[in-house]
Amino acid sequence: MCGIVGFTGQENALPILLKGLYSLEYRGYDSAGIAAFTQKGLEVVKTRGRIANLEEKIRETGGLEACCGIGHTRWATHGEPSDRNSHPHLGGKDGKSGEIAVVHNGIIENYLELRERLEAHGYVFQSDTDTETVAHLIDYLHTGKKEDLGMTVLKAVGMLRGSYALGVVSLDDPHEIVAARRANPLVIGLGEGENLIASDVTAIISRTRKYLILDDGEVAIVRPDSVKVMNEFGDTVEKEVQEVTWDLSAAEKGGYEHFMMKEIMEQPQAVANTLHPRIQDGHVVFEDQGLTDERLKKAQHIHIIGCGSALHAGMVGRSVIEELCRVRCQASVASEFRYENPIIEPDDICLVISQSGETADTLAAMRLAKAAGAYTVAIVNVVSSTIAREADGVLYLWAGPEIAVATTKAYSAQLGALYLFAIKLARVRGMLNADEEKTLCEALYKIPEQIGEMLQSKSQMQYIATRYANRSSIFFLGRGLDYAAAMEASLKLKEVSYIHSEAYAAGELKHGTISLIEEGTLVVALATQPALHEKTISNIREVVSRGAEVVLVTSADFDGDTSYCSHVVRLPALPHAFSPSLSIIPLQLLAYYIAVERSCDVDKPRNLAKSVTVE
Ligand code: AGP
Repeated sequence: MCGIVGFTGQENALPILLKGLYSLEYRGYDSAGIAAFTQKGLEVVKTRGRIANLEEKIRETGGLEACCGIGHTRWATHGEPSDRNSHPHLGGKDGKSGEIAVVHNGIIENYLELRERLEAHGYVFQSDTDTETVAHLIDYLHTGKKEDLGMTVLKAVGMLRGSYALGVVSLDDPHEIVAARRANPLVIGLGEGENLIASDVTAIISRTRKYLILDDGEVAIVRPDSVKVMNEFGDTVEKEVQEVTWDLSAAEKGGYEHFMMKEIMEQPQAVANTLHPRIQDGHVVFEDQGLTDERLKKAQHIHIIGCGSALHAGMVGRSVIEELCRVRCQASVASEFRYENPIIEPDDICLVISQSGETADTLAAMRLAKAAGAYTVAIVNVVSSTIAREADGVLYLWAGPEIAVATTKAYSAQLGALYLFAIKLARVRGMLNADEEKTLCEALYKIPEQIGEMLQSKSQMQYIATRYANRSSIFFLGRGLDYAAAMEASLKLKEVSYIHSEAYAAGELKHGTISLIEEGTLVVALATQPALHEKTISNIREVVSRGAEVVLVTSADFDGDTSYCSHVVRLPALPHAFSPSLSIIPLQLLAYYIAVERSCDVDKPRNLAKSVTVE
């Protein structure tokens, strides 16, 4: 997703803006730019490519000495990655020498009709972006009028359909930044004699830990010594000051080559942060007061919604909830759920899973479930994110900032939160007695330590990665919980190594896809559920007999023949319902090491963004 940063204060803005942009790199981008007020006026430098390219270009143009400016990393939606489509965009008749500059994250759905009207008023467009329309619209509404920029921006955004987080500056006042948001996150950093705007707190934490969160429809006028927030009616609104809960080092690599490896290794602590505070004396205790026993008893259906890895965690949760609680549970792709007119009853509970808490499809699906009367519980990592603030209840993961685009520790923490929910629900509905709850809680409490044990498979997985890094396609098989785990393992491999991969329900393979298995095909098989061991093993033998090489991930108590497997990884003993928390660890490592072998951009894979805040 695009990244926005802005600074207004007493110091040179350039290094602060660049540092902010670097901290937003993890969101994924293809170009970058800065607009700043210098002695020459409002200067814009922007370029396709990395932020390093932008720094080079700034040096070539003689630098930018300014105390106020805005910066942007672009993830292309309208218009190919190019210099001219990069942000900031200038408003003004010729689009080159304007007095207004705009950066934007989101999609303006009515930009073409606005563009036609502006062209009819003589505006010449320099780019194919929806954002340039916003820049000219603000120019059109503001130039020649005796009106604060903030009020103009309020008027302009009222004419936009779609989503936006905007940073706007104007030569009217070289110390002022106007920020506005609808459906895309934007925070206001509160400093001493300086203030900032940013897409998320990672871009401001080096300057301040205090921030405000803009809500949909709000506009903020940000100056070095003041921040004023207006609602869509132009009324001034008071905002609650938030405080960042983690320190800067948490958002830095800490000696690891990649954030992904750092976050893989952080999983024992991340999952402990999710689990341990909520396991007290053998019971599951939720801080969310809305998740009452009565509500849990009444629910006839549990919906789980999410995208990507969050959905895969939800698939594991669905299986565990149905197994333990014997209540109907469905895990849905959020982008499907929101359009399939789902059947939702007022007593239903909807678990909304999202690391970022900003995923557009998940947010929209949650709003739909909430409007239908379901009780929505956000299982999210980013504190005060949009999903967290709009849900009826929230279970924070407390996993710390996750920077790598490929999620690892947040996924594992999501599994922990779902196990907690399943145990609580089962206990309240009488499916577990106190002793059974205590036994499961004790086992759950140990999972962070067992994840640490699984991390010992690093060297084995690194060796396997060197053997298979050149494969063009890799299959993952599993049944039941192992199939859900296989879905996540396959996605990890795809998104960081760019190797095509499929996760298959093991029993389904013979209904077509087995035709793709040939001599040397790598198949990663998960067989951690004793009741399904035999069936899965027979599926594995099917692929081996057609030439496949198999990496088997199985449980400690599996005593079958494994001589036909090229490599075997065993999990330590634990309740089988929790095995996905351990089986994913070696497969995250496998994906990571294959990506490194293939010299991929592990933390920022091509085409991907950390938080998909557009549809
Ligand atoms: C996971 O590695 C991917 N980066 C992606 O599938 C991600 O899980 C998905 O976009 C959902 O993001 P969220 O958890 O922030 O909602």
